[in-house]
Amino acid sequence: MHPGSVPSSAPSASSGARPDSPDGGAGTTDHGARRSDRDRRVGRRRPTRTAFVGRRATPTVRKFSPEYLRRTRDGMWAESREALADLSLADRTRVLDAGCGTGELSRVLDAETPGEVVCVDADTDLLGVARRETGLSTVAGDAVRLPFVDDAFDLVVCQALLVNLPDPSEALDSFVRVSSELVAAVEPDNAAVGVESTVSAEVALERSVRESYIEGVRTDVALGDRLPDIFEAAGLRDVRTRRHFHRKVTQPPYDELELEDAARKANGAGVAAHETELRRTLSDAEYDALRRDWREMGRSVVEQMREERYRRAEVVPFDVVVGRVPE
Ligand SMILES: C[S@@+](CC[C@H](N)C(=O)[O-])C[C@H]1O[C@@H](n2cnc3c(N)ncnc32)[C@H](O)[C@@H]1O
Repeated sequence: MHPGSVPSSAPSASSGARPDSPDGGAGTTDHGARRSDRDRRVGRRRPTRTAFVGRRATPTVRKFSPEYLRRTRDGMWAESREALADLSLADRTRVLDAGCGTGELSRVLDAETPGEVVCVDADTDLLGVARRETGLSTVAGDAVRLPFVDDAFDLVVCQALLVNLPDPSEALDSFVRVSSELVAAVEPDNAAVGVESTVSAEVALERSVRESYIEGVRTDVALGDRLPDIFEAAGLRDVRTRRHFHRKVTQPPYDELELEDAARKANGAGVAAHETELRRTLSDAEYDALRRDWREMGRSVVEQMREERYRRAEVVPFDVVVGRVPE
């Protein structure tokens, strides 16, 4: 198992409040999740390129490192983008990537749409990376209280955001408010991740860590087939789902990221990153034994890599759910 990708949306460090950012919008208008008549009038004005308004205190979010996001998203949309078909990207004029992180999905959106892509995230460090690496507009803000006027976009989409929120439906309400047409989510089904490896202990250990993590984490990281119901409950119509499989193969010649992954296995960093969640379900003795077995497994991975014998395949299923905002 890939420690950095188990589960695929797992954080790389502990939670913490993030500092405010110079990226935020100007003004003081406060937009709640629900549309008022006044909000509707404001929203009907075609937004300018800086169509964002005010902001609230930055929320407490799980912290992800740029390296973690790079590792886990690497090649995700390289082979096929068929599952994005219902986003009608070729027809979009303004697209918001909510919880954009380092802009891994934003790049794909930008390549597929003639429209403008805007990136929003609560983590200003990640947002800085997204801005530098994609050149797209970035705004610091909470996905649950998006700092934009009503109908500012014709598509609001997120990738691996909802699985990290205590109440995904709050974010969907916010997406519905700022989108005039489509809302979409690309979310991993972490309970259905599949792994094969030439190090036999790796498969069972990864399953064990994944199961304990899913049980110990305080958000629903395996939303899976419940997503369409959440979309419908948010009032979205014509809800469609496609499944995208992110298949990652590690084999010789190994690249730098793969060598780093192996080192993280051997030094136990992959398990330590999930310590808080794992300790919620494992006793101290179980956690220590898991960590010990994990490191031993990691040393076997490193050894097989030295001999160029190591092969691993991981498949992470992602559900792409798209709904239409009612008139
Ligand atoms: C698993 S990462 C996914 C990043 C990116 N969408 C991707 O697929 O690589 C989750 C992202 O959601 C952001 N996030 C979490 N809670 C948020 C909130 N309430 N408002 C805005 N962003 C949030 C995190 O900072 C992080 O960048």
